[in-house]
Amino acid sequence: MADEPANEAPYRLLDRVTLGDDVHVGPFTNLYGCAIGSGTRIGPFVEIQAGATVGERCKVQSHTFICDGVAIEDEVFIGHGVMFVNDVRPRATTDEGRLQTAGDWELTPTVVERRASIGSAAAILAGVRIGEGALVGAGAVVTRDVEAGEVVAGVPARALAHAAETPTTSSSS
Ligand SMILES: CC(C)(COP(=O)(O)OP(=O)(O)OC[C@H]1O[C@@H](n2cnc3c(N)ncnc32)[C@H](O)[C@@H]1OP(=O)(O)O)[C@@H](O)C(=O)NCCC(=O)NCCS
Repeated sequence: MADEPANEAPYRLLDRVTLGDDVHVGPFTNLYGCAIGSGTRIGPFVEIQAGATVGERCKVQSHTFICDGVAIEDEVFIGHGVMFVNDVRPRATTDEGRLQTAGDWELTPTVVERRASIGSAAAILAGVRIGEGALVGAGAVVTRDVEAGEVVAGVPARALAHAAETPTTSSSS
């Protein structure tokens, strides 16, 4: 565990962040109440909310938003401008017209498994599980679970017929 990121950078907010060792955090970032594993790199203009976790040796590229309820395992690549979602049917206000607060909506968790990669500008809808080593194409809208090693792209994201990633787990046989 470390008290500070391993690098210096201007204009970044780190509030109640649990940091592993050798974490690099870029400028103009907003990280609060989250946990970042050792060796991970966080690019500029990234926001990571309270309750989100990012594993070890991950790369999170600039302009990405990781919200509460998102769990990112080790060695995951998150491209530029990737948007996570944790509320399937968001509303600004209650039926009575009062601004909604945390108690008025239900958080839906999302998991990105080890060594998966998510292409730039992808949107990951609430409640999906992106399997180990899977690859999500740039600009995809992921609405359903992605199998381990699967390559998906498009809106909504569907498997690319020709492509599958090399398995990331070794076999003992
Ligand atoms: C999804 C991806 C891995 C597929 O790569 P690939 O296996 O080399 O695929 P190809 O380029 O051979 O394309 C295969 C087909 O999928 C389509 N396709 C490829 N990427 C696509 C995408 N992101 N969205 C929609 N369709 C896509 C191609 O148009 C092609 O369709 P066609 O057969 O009808 O012509 C890649 O295109 C991609 O999006 N990678 C993410 C890159 C990224 O965001 N990096 C972030 C850091 S810079």
